[in-house]
Amino acid sequence: MRLLTAAVTTIALALGAQAAVAAPIEIKFSHVVAENTPKGQMALKFKELVDERLAGKVEVDVFPSSQLFGDNKVLEAMLLGDVQLAAPSLSKLQKYTKKLQIFDLPFLFKDMAAVERFQKGADGQKLLGSLNKKGLVGLGYLHNGMKQLSASNPLKVPADAAGRKFRIMTSDVLQAQFEAIDAVPLKKPFSEVFTLLQTQAIDGQENTWSNIYSKKFFEVQPFITESNHGVLDYLVVTSAEFWMSLDKDLQKELKKALDDAITYGNGIAAEKASQDKQKIIDSKRSKVVNLTDAERQQWVKAMKPVWTQFEDEIGADLIKAAEASNQ
Ligand code: LMR
Repeated sequence: MRLLTAAVTTIALALGAQAAVAAPIEIKFSHVVAENTPKGQMALKFKELVDERLAGKVEVDVFPSSQLFGDNKVLEAMLLGDVQLAAPSLSKLQKYTKKLQIFDLPFLFKDMAAVERFQKGADGQKLLGSLNKKGLVGLGYLHNGMKQLSASNPLKVPADAAGRKFRIMTSDVLQAQFEAIDAVPLKKPFSEVFTLLQTQAIDGQENTWSNIYSKKFFEVQPFITESNHGVLDYLVVTSAEFWMSLDKDLQKELKKALDDAITYGNGIAAEKASQDKQKIIDSKRSKVVNLTDAERQQWVKAMKPVWTQFEDEIGADLIKAAEASNQ
């Protein structure tokens, strides 16, 4: 009997050890947007590729729409090991680096092609490492698109926004941008925007077509000015501790899957922007306000002084390099 118990124990231990060896590494990917957005789709593509290529070794669980962590908590949670992957907007990283504030400067990039050129160039690639000192690793840029201004009144010229409250991401540059037009900026998490708009606690906000559509902001904002005044892009980020704990081959495979998912996400971003804009127009819930060249120039003139305000923190050379990507 004793022999039998010993044998059973040995087998159980062996099975236990095997199970421990075989347990897949879990990657929790937390983000704040809906699934039908470039970031939502990129995250699902990453999961799909990992399932195909690394079945049994790695398991990806995606948590969209701030289900796991909202914008302000996710990176703290990452440093504690509670989440392994996130893609916060570049505007939400000023606590970790001042350099990435470049992406918030109003009217710096003329379109997404310019943003892409800058990110792919030497300066953009160097910026991927700007969080390293804080224990975070930038694995790549992901596009969403150019931002538009939505509001309860039609915004044709900057004076139309004066005195009105706008939700912004946690960015001092965006704060300065709205202060430059005498508006009142309020830093609030993405998950609260719809309710703030619906209850008219705020008058407006700035965002991309896909976010305005997928989070239904257009249903509670009668006007959207197609201003293309800034960019909303992301940094796909992990913690150095998690990344370095991976075996080199696995790290390479995961990076490849991530690069492929980012390429996919970036590939659909532009198309998604125009489709979602069209869906908003078709809904007739919100009117798209187009600016004449002269009106647009008024916004440029009012907002561009923000560049000088942040030149010391960002670096004049970096701003010049970004401007050069417009050619
Ligand atoms: C926002 O807070 O408006 C955006 O950063 C949301 C997102 O991740 O696209």
